[in-house]
Amino acid sequence: MRSIFIAVLILVCTGCARQIETVTIPSAGQQAVAMPDTFSADAAMAVLAEGGNAVDAAITAQFVLAVTYPEAGNIGGGGFMTLSINGQADFLDYREMAPGAAHRDMYLDEQGHVHPYESLFGAKASGVPGTVAGMWEAHQKYGSLPWSRLVQPAVDLAEQGFVVPEHLAGRISRYLARVQKQGLFSNFGDYFAHATANSVFSQPELAETLKRIRDQGRNGFYDGETARIISSYMQQNGGLITAQDLASYEAKWRTPITHTWRGYTVITAPPPSSGGVAVVQWLGMMEPWLESLPEHNSSQYIHLLSEVGKRVFADRAEYLGDPDFVEVPVQALTEPAYLAKRSSEVNPDAISVTEDIAPGLYESEDTTHFSIVDRWGNAVANTTTINLSFGAGVVVSGAGFLLNDEMDDFSAKAGVPNFFGAIGGTANEIQPFKRMLSSMTPTIVLKGRDVALVTGSPGGTTIISSVTQSVLNTLVYDMTAQAAADAPRVHHQLWPKDTIRHHSGLDASTLEELERLGYTLDNRSFGDLHLITATVDGMDAASQSSGRGKAIVNPAQ
Ligand code: GLY
Repeated sequence: MRSIFIAVLILVCTGCARQIETVTIPSAGQQAVAMPDTFSADAAMAVLAEGGNAVDAAITAQFVLAVTYPEAGNIGGGGFMTLSINGQADFLDYREMAPGAAHRDMYLDEQGHVHPYESLFGAKASGVPGTVAGMWEAHQKYGSLPWSRLVQPAVDLAEQGFVVPEHLAGRISRYLARVQKQGLFSNFGDYFAHATANSVFSQPELAETLKRIRDQGRNGFYDGETARIISSYMQQNGGLITAQDLASYEAKWRTPITHTWRGYTVITAPPPSSGGVAVVQWLGMMEPWLESLPEHNSSQYIHLLSEVGKRVFADRAEYLGDPDFVEVPVQALTEPAYLAKRSSEVNPDAISVTEDIAPGLYESEDTTHFSIVDRWGNAVANTTTINLSFGAGVVVSGAGFLLNDEMDDFSAKAGVPNFFGAIGGTANEIQPFKRMLSSMTPTIVLKGRDVALVTGSPGGTTIISSVTQSVLNTLVYDMTAQAAADAPRVHHQLWPKDTIRHHSGLDASTLEELERLGYTLDNRSFGDLHLITATVDGMDAASQSSGRGKAIVNPAQ
């Protein structure tokens, strides 16, 4: 180990019980993780310290989160992984897909109205999970340590249990109360009600499922015992996923969006994510306005972000969907000339009329994210989801894992908003075997061949805003990783009209000025950034202080 210099900085965040550890080493060969919880951070760092690469660490983190971060970590959901391996960009799509029996109008009642819960709750809300296939594919292509070694930490945590953090216990009890209040059937309480703060919580059924995955790889989920349990659970509970749907699921390697911006290379998520196109559009349309460097989080800056955001979300609603089913004009939507033209339509002093913002071309939220850099400078940005907190709210009995409610990310009916208020058209309508549009935006920014930033966040459509502002905060406003993760952010997604959602912490005078301009302010926090940046002193990593994340930078090896 080439350990040269270690400085340990413990930042104790006020108002929360969590500690962020940052260890900075001014030399190459450092390893860094920024994770949504301590269990995943420690397990991923142990893999890196043992000589594993960033992909090995990501596989371990993903399975650990399925145990210790049940509100979003998963084997019953899906996600996206953006990679920079030996300087080569790559992208893995392990998004869920609609079951073969799904159809366009499956969530409409006889009057043609969208049923309020069916796409969000229960077995019918689930797409075919992609996570295990995704991790298996990642391992086949890039893994260096044995698969069983990488899955084992999750098996141990499920079998022996872990001490439940207060943050998780609070989320579980609030979720239980909500399910009970709404009178929705769920077996969630049978599995999670005893996960109280500081108790040791074990998950024996999940441990057995993870052992099958550990021993049989992909087949331990999509074939044999686990597949049999899932398909019979579906049959008994009104779900659509069959054994054939599971057997035919494939994670897909896709070409990431790679975009040059202010001397950096932004590598980000292509469709079926809307997020990569959106972040590139947002950064591109902001670029002319950054020349005068508006004061960070001033009313002028927030107004510009909002005006650009409206245009980004107008395009999202019209053009984005699964590229295996619809033509998505990625190139045209991210063309510098197109972005410059859209940007020039922004009035820096007044709000544009929402109804006039047409698509421009040719005329508890949840989810979770982690970022990793290994000693060789390889980077992984991974965002994974079961959609809302605790997904569909039901556990596959006998297999012990929560199902996703990702079908709500389709547009159940053109023009009707989904849970996140996102409106979609025909490009994102339900079809058998199609992947629902996502906002997940795991993103890596390179300077030359070196990692400058690895970033991502949960939060449905707000992911796009969180990721965009993390890029601006670090690479334009020169913030440290922690400052960038914690700086108050804003979100504007065209609808609701003239509404800016924002974190607490903006100046009162800024808020007053925004209201004077005509904005309605919606003070609800969003996102949970986990990012790694490169500084002249070495890697700098941070997790947003409001969550239960942990970031670690280890010495050069
Ligand atoms: N389920 C949230 C997303 O994929 O955007």
